[in-house]
Amino acid sequence: MMAKQTHPAIELENKYGAHNYHPIPVVIERGHGIYVWDTDGKKYFDFLSAYSAVNQGHCHPKIINALTDQARKLTLTSRAFHNNILGEYEKYITNYFGYDKVLPMNTGVEGGETAIKLCRKWAYEVKGVPTNQAKILFVEGNFWGRTMAAVSSSTDPSSFNNFGPFMPGFEVIPYNNIPALEKALEDPNVAGFMIEPIQGEAGVIIPNDGYLKNAYDLCKAKNVLFIADEVQTGIGRTGKLLACDYENVKPDILVLGKALGGGVLPVSAVLCRDEIMMTIKPGQHGSTFGGNPLACKVAMAALEVIKDENLSENSFKMGKIFRARLQNINSPIIDTIRGKGLFNAVVIKPFSHNKTAWDVCLALKDNGLLAKQTHDHIIRFAPPLTITEAEINEAADIIERTILECN
Ligand SMILES: Cc1ncc(COP(=O)(O)O)c(C=O)c1O
Repeated sequence: MMAKQTHPAIELENKYGAHNYHPIPVVIERGHGIYVWDTDGKKYFDFLSAYSAVNQGHCHPKIINALTDQARKLTLTSRAFHNNILGEYEKYITNYFGYDKVLPMNTGVEGGETAIKLCRKWAYEVKGVPTNQAKILFVEGNFWGRTMAAVSSSTDPSSFNNFGPFMPGFEVIPYNNIPALEKALEDPNVAGFMIEPIQGEAGVIIPNDGYLKNAYDLCKAKNVLFIADEVQTGIGRTGKLLACDYENVKPDILVLGKALGGGVLPVSAVLCRDEIMMTIKPGQHGSTFGGNPLACKVAMAALEVIKDENLSENSFKMGKIFRARLQNINSPIIDTIRGKGLFNAVVIKPFSHNKTAWDVCLALKDNGLLAKQTHDHIIRFAPPLTITEAEINEAADIIERTILECN
């Protein structure tokens, strides 16, 4: 399984770094737009986009300018003092997504943690749930990061095995299953329902049409907060600004991350209305780096690029072309093709022709396209949203050729 890894950079990582990842053996030293180059100068299509953190493309000039201009002036004050950029950013992002307020954090998982803390606080102080009885619902296959709370809600053994004891007050119900949600909502102590509108790490799993809207309406009827984790699906990735937009669902709490940082910094955000946000008072939650002026400038530039370059619309169009191309590949190793916008997956038939998704990713790399499998048999294809029709066709040619070689 393990490919031969002889590059000195890989050897250093193996010797001195924790072995908590199993990367494709390629050492990247440069990125521009939809492409990256390895240390030998070989060029690749980037079809992972750093798990959708690079939606705007590598080293986008507008984002890099925002970064470098601000870096020369002021980078960090902590929230002990005001800075002259935070308020401007807060106004910008709340208008952009249509919410009263934002709570700025850094990584996606911190965004999820913040959403859960807000939801619990709201449950006790507004909804009237008895102290320490609040329950948050999650669905099977969810992924929202690696903190103790995140792994406590996980149904993936590799996420939770031997990391217990776990966070109480979480219940996991089947995904894409309205009767299961209805039943779970019978408990009056349920405070929130947290969901990825399309499950990313689980393998780009798309629920039935109407599921999100139905789930949202059921939550409304029971005064339960609908929390959308759009850390991976948000900011144009699925062909709309938010994946929830497909069903006109406006989450009570919206969690964003990844592409909010334009591929250069960890920037996450939790957005909601005042009734929820104002339950958190000074000293009750925060982060040294959250809302720093550098991150705020980068996030504004990252969001501007999405609008100015019509990247949600491009994602929608290019996604259609891409899936049509994949559907045309006549290979016995392909089981399923699915996706929305430029958030796509090919499921490889388990053990067909002795090929795993990892083997296909290695072959793709040799042919000039980087992608990464999730689980043993699913390959996610998620290029930067700036990709053109000619480029998506060229990339599809590589994928087609590689899959046919793997037959
Ligand atoms: C849906 C979703 N939520 C949250 C996270 C966690 O983000 P981060 O790795 O920045 O903590 C991820 C990461 O893949 C994710 O896919």
